[in-house]
Amino acid sequence: MDDLENILEKAAERPHALSRGERAALLSLEGPEEIERLFGAAYDLKVRYCGKTVAMRGIIEAGNICAKDCLYCGIRKSNAKLERYSLDADDIVRLAEFDAARGYASLVIQSGEIESEAHTRFIEDVLRRIAPLNLGVTLSLGEQTEDVYRRWREAGAARYLLRVETSNRGLYSRLHPEGHSFDRRVECLRALRRCGYQVGTGVMCALPGQTAEDLADDIGFFAEMDADMIGMGPFIPHPDTPLGGEGFDARRRLMAGLKMIAVTRLHLHDVNIAAATALQALADDGRERGIMAGANVIMPNITDVKYRRGYQLYQNKPCLDENASLCASCLERRLAAIGERVGYGKRGDSLHYRLRAGETE
Ligand code: 5AD
Ligand code: FES
Repeated sequence: MDDLENILEKAAERPHALSRGERAALLSLEGPEEIERLFGAAYDLKVRYCGKTVAMRGIIEAGNICAKDCLYCGIRKSNAKLERYSLDADDIVRLAEFDAARGYASLVIQSGEIESEAHTRFIEDVLRRIAPLNLGVTLSLGEQTEDVYRRWREAGAARYLLRVETSNRGLYSRLHPEGHSFDRRVECLRALRRCGYQVGTGVMCALPGQTAEDLADDIGFFAEMDADMIGMGPFIPHPDTPLGGEGFDARRRLMAGLKMIAVTRLHLHDVNIAAATALQALADDGRERGIMAGANVIMPNITDVKYRRGYQLYQNKPCLDENASLCASCLERRLAAIGERVGYGKRGDSLHYRLRAGETE
């Protein structure tokens, strides 16, 4: 690409500077040297906004019972091979206490999607019980009504992650069965914002039939939604799903994920970007490479080992046998090896959110 340096410089000067075509061109880079320059420019911006620290959020996989049937996902309701589990409130509270004791100051509770009054109350109860720990609590519990989002917000959740999965409607409908609605998903993101959450969204990349232009549009969607946090990862086929026959192709998927992180950082500047666990399923050092391409958040799994096999959204999910302490020390070592530190004791609100909320540095 002739004008790569110019484009990278322009992107670094101010947010939202890249055109759709420039984003697509950056996402299509193939030459190893050019890709290194792309990652280097994105990492410089990460350091400018977030320093050489990585925010940690322990993630609790609270249950794999799911009412949805997404064609790519290992815990889809039609996957009869899976033994279903759900943690009880005491389990979640214990893991949250572990997270706080570890100094992470931030926590994610994720599960399959369930819409019921009993589930809403259960989460409310958990949120009230962990409130004294003063953690930055993120929920990732799928599509719900605005009323439910408001109740959870009032019970103490501060952030919510709901990936849009792809901003291309046609692709969305090819990845989801009847009854799964793109419009409802986007409406949920708006409702979350109205309820006062820091809102995270994101997409999968390397999806079958997805183009560089689709991904360029996804980044445009993040900007349009004014997202505070972005979580993205490569699609990895799961054998017990309808899309399980897609090739594994680890290198291609990893590079797609890393490029997406880099171009998102270059376009949005001050948001929190997670180095998804899916990256580590493709390469042992995948998450560290995510940081070096511009991500600033890692979500170590703190779920008890006995449940981890039940939450395989995709094949080759790492750390199935490592307990939470092992993962924590492993990550610390891995980050030290790339000159980064764990941001202990910080809730890690995204700078984008803090500026939006009127807090000055
Ligand atoms: N490969 C990669 N990511 C997946 N997810 C679900 N299934 C897969 C898969 N096969 C992601 C979705 C979802 C998140 C929790 O996990 O993006 O939002
Ligand atoms: Fe789990 Fe390294 S992060 S063992």
